[in-house]
Amino acid sequence: MKTGKRQDLRSREWFDTPELYGWTRQAALQGLGLDPSVYRDRPLIGICNTWSELTHCNAHLRTLAQRVKEGVWQAGGVPFEFPVISLGEFNMRPTSMLFRNLLSMDVEECIRANPLDGVVLLGGCDKTTPGLLMGAVSADLPAILVTGGPQLTAHWRGQELGSCTDCRRFEVELRAGRIDPEDWQDLQGAMIRSPGHCMTMGTASTLATLAEALGLALPGNAAFPAADSRRTRLAHRAGRQIVRLVELDLKPSRLLSAGSFDNAIRTLHAIGGSTNAIVHLLAVAGRTNIPLSLKRFDELSQTTPMLLDLKPAGRFLMEDFAYAGGAPALLGEIASLLDPDQPTVTGRSLGENLRGARNDNPEVIRTMDRPLEASGGLAVLHGSLAPDGCIIKHSAATPELLRHQGRAIVFEDHHELMEGIDDPDLDVGPEDVLVLRGAGPLGGPGMPEWGLLPIPRKLLRRGVQDMVRISDSRISGTARGTVVVHVCPESEAGGPLAAVRTGDQIRLNVPARRLDLLVEPREIERRLERVRSRVRPEARGYRRLYFEHVLQADQGCDFDFLRAE
Ligand code: FES
Repeated sequence: MKTGKRQDLRSREWFDTPELYGWTRQAALQGLGLDPSVYRDRPLIGICNTWSELTHCNAHLRTLAQRVKEGVWQAGGVPFEFPVISLGEFNMRPTSMLFRNLLSMDVEECIRANPLDGVVLLGGCDKTTPGLLMGAVSADLPAILVTGGPQLTAHWRGQELGSCTDCRRFEVELRAGRIDPEDWQDLQGAMIRSPGHCMTMGTASTLATLAEALGLALPGNAAFPAADSRRTRLAHRAGRQIVRLVELDLKPSRLLSAGSFDNAIRTLHAIGGSTNAIVHLLAVAGRTNIPLSLKRFDELSQTTPMLLDLKPAGRFLMEDFAYAGGAPALLGEIASLLDPDQPTVTGRSLGENLRGARNDNPEVIRTMDRPLEASGGLAVLHGSLAPDGCIIKHSAATPELLRHQGRAIVFEDHHELMEGIDDPDLDVGPEDVLVLRGAGPLGGPGMPEWGLLPIPRKLLRRGVQDMVRISDSRISGTARGTVVVHVCPESEAGGPLAAVRTGDQIRLNVPARRLDLLVEPREIERRLERVRSRVRPEARGYRRLYFEHVLQADQGCDFDFLRAE
């Protein structure tokens, strides 16, 4: 068995070979300016970088990579920065989620194919973090995640704003005619103040926080702003620590367990995190032999209070979370619910990491005796409309709508939605339930974040702020509203969502964890017979692979052949 001791380093297999290849590989290192005395018998550390100027959230990661390198050198390793594809949430069409599995394959194969003993993963924007984790877990070399950190709080006309919760809020104001196009343009220049990812508790911030709970990131990683020198020092520490992890041979398969996933799920509920994290955690677990299902998310939700008062559900932003103590302070508050013995990349247990953690602002991070909600902010629903489950972030919903029955208004796809939602002749009222289909992993494709269906303009002008909205797509972690997403199976895969007709009654009952189409089961079956023969669009290359192998949201939308045996 490998010990991680220097004479037993994985990378030596590339060089200690009598074949010409061993000689040429060393020639290549010397060609990079590395003397044999520098690289011989030292751990070779990859710095897997999702830097790209097309991913504004990750555009500062080369600076962080430099700090990681210095840490690696200082600890006696030899760093090699390498690029993998970058997934920019704003730019990629139809959605960055379509390419998350491609990134994970890129990461896994780059690590596997190269003479590396350990790796530091640099990500930040929504899909880069889970893609890095999935690939690194499959490659199973010692690995530490360093995220780029959140942007600084935005300020505009005396208000503190968060991307992109407040972009959405002001877009509604614009559509309702309460701000004008000049205001909207002025806001555009104020929203993104610094490098870093969105600074609400959206998907990027959620995944960065969960990585600490999983034990795959150093304490404090989640919240320090990208522009804060504590983030660059953390990157330096990660560089030093990865060399130690190689010596300990502490790799993901020795860090992850059912207990560490439970810790992450409890943390997700305590922070009122993004619904997207459910899909990503299921995908990461699927790369291990640790069983995890949607049911576990709901079970732990019932007994985990929500403590973090951050947008989109709450008041504050990631900078406030950092100054309150960040993830260590939050984890310290819920320590009695966590498994403290889980190992982490510090080489110590989670419980040991949390010793001395302090909560410096109990308004931002509530205490257990003064929670924002007695139970978690996310719920898993089942019923005749979602036999394999669906998700609602009820912490960001309108409480009065959590039990609701209404008439379905169905949109076949996103195009029809955008064409029709503001039609003055659309027969719609505030009690109706807006339904979008054709937006799941296959239908989107890529399960785009279309789940926050716009409120029809004519209702907005009457002051309607929220309605029940249901789809097989996702929502941005920065969104709020009474929005049911991830309906499984999706309509494109023959789920009952495909059978809904405008005028049908739908009943949502979040306390009972139910979502039902109030149509006779035989009638649903009869309608589905007619729609099951939809033809998949022609696709080539990666997209063909995607259509042939992507799984549904309840299995993390991973590819079937990438899951652990
Ligand atoms: Fe990158 Fe929001 S756009 S995290």
